[in-house]
Amino acid sequence: MQLIDGKAVATQIKKEIAEEVERIIAEGGKRPHLAAILVGHDGGSETYVANKVKSCEECGFTSTLIRYEADITEEELLKKVEELNNDPEVDGFIVQLPLPRHIDEQKVTEAIDYRKDVDGFHPINVGRLSIGLPCFLSATPNGIMELLARYNIDTKGKKCVVLGRSNIVGKPMANLMMQKSTPGDATVTVCHSHTENIAEECRQADIIIAALGQPHFVKADMVKEGAVVIDVGTTRVPDPTRKSGFRLCGDVDFENVAPKCSYITPVPGGVGPMTIVSLMKNTLLAGKREIYK
Ligand code: GUN
Repeated sequence: MQLIDGKAVATQIKKEIAEEVERIIAEGGKRPHLAAILVGHDGGSETYVANKVKSCEECGFTSTLIRYEADITEEELLKKVEELNNDPEVDGFIVQLPLPRHIDEQKVTEAIDYRKDVDGFHPINVGRLSIGLPCFLSATPNGIMELLARYNIDTKGKKCVVLGRSNIVGKPMANLMMQKSTPGDATVTVCHSHTENIAEECRQADIIIAALGQPHFVKADMVKEGAVVIDVGTTRVPDPTRKSGFRLCGDVDFENVAPKCSYITPVPGGVGPMTIVSLMKNTLLAGKREIYK
C-alpha cells in the first residue's frame, strides 16, 4: 500500500508556481491577483479562506480578502461581484460558499464573469468541461487528477466509482475521469443516495473516489484488493482532545481499508491541500490569460 501524500505534492506545486511567477515578473509581466469574498463567520469558510490567502502568499500572488457580515443583501453582494468583474487589477475571484440562506448562491455564481471564475463553478466553465474544451476546472476534482498524474496511477480503461453527485465534486470528477486524456479514459459509475447496492458497485471498482460527506462510509468489505481509494470527505467530528475541538473525518474507514489498497489518500493531508493548489493553478492561468484571451 502506498500513501498518496497530497501535502507534499501541494508544497511542490506551490513552489513550481512561485518560480513561474518570478519568471513572469522578471520578464516584466504582472503578478496574478486573486480576490475572495467571504460572507459571515462560518468556521469552515473562515479556515478555507485564510488558507487560500496564505497559499497566495506562498505562490507570490497578490490577494484581496473582502469581508461582509451575514446580513449583507443579495443586491449589495451582486454589486461587488460586478465591480470585481470590471476591475482590471483582479485576474480571478471567488465567493466562498455556503452563503447565508437569504442569498441565492446560483444567482451569485452566474453573476461572476466566467473568465474570472477561478472556482470553475459558472455554467459556462462546467459546460466547457463536459465537452472537453479549455476551462477553469473545479478545484477538488482537478486536484485529484493532479495526484493521479503525479503518482503515475493508470486510469485508462479502469473501472472508476465516484460516490456522490455534487456539482462541485462528484459530477466534474466523473466528467474528468471519462474524458479522453491521461489521467482519464476510465469507465465511470456515479453512485448516490438512490443507488441500489453501493457496496457491490464499489467492489467492482479499480478506483473509488468517495465524495459523499459521510464519515467512514467506505468499509473494507466494499473495496477490491489492490484498488486505488481517494477520500474527499472532510466532516468535522467533535474531539475534545484537540485544541480546535474537532478533527477531520474522511468518507473512508482508513484503518481497515488501507491494507487492501494499492494507493490511498489520508484525511487530512490527501485531497485537501490539493484543492487549494488547484485554485492557485487556475489563478495563474487567469493571470496569464491562458484559457480566455
Ligand atoms: N466552499 C467549499 N468549497 C468551496 C470552493 O471550492 N469554493 C468556494 N467558493 N466555496 C467553497
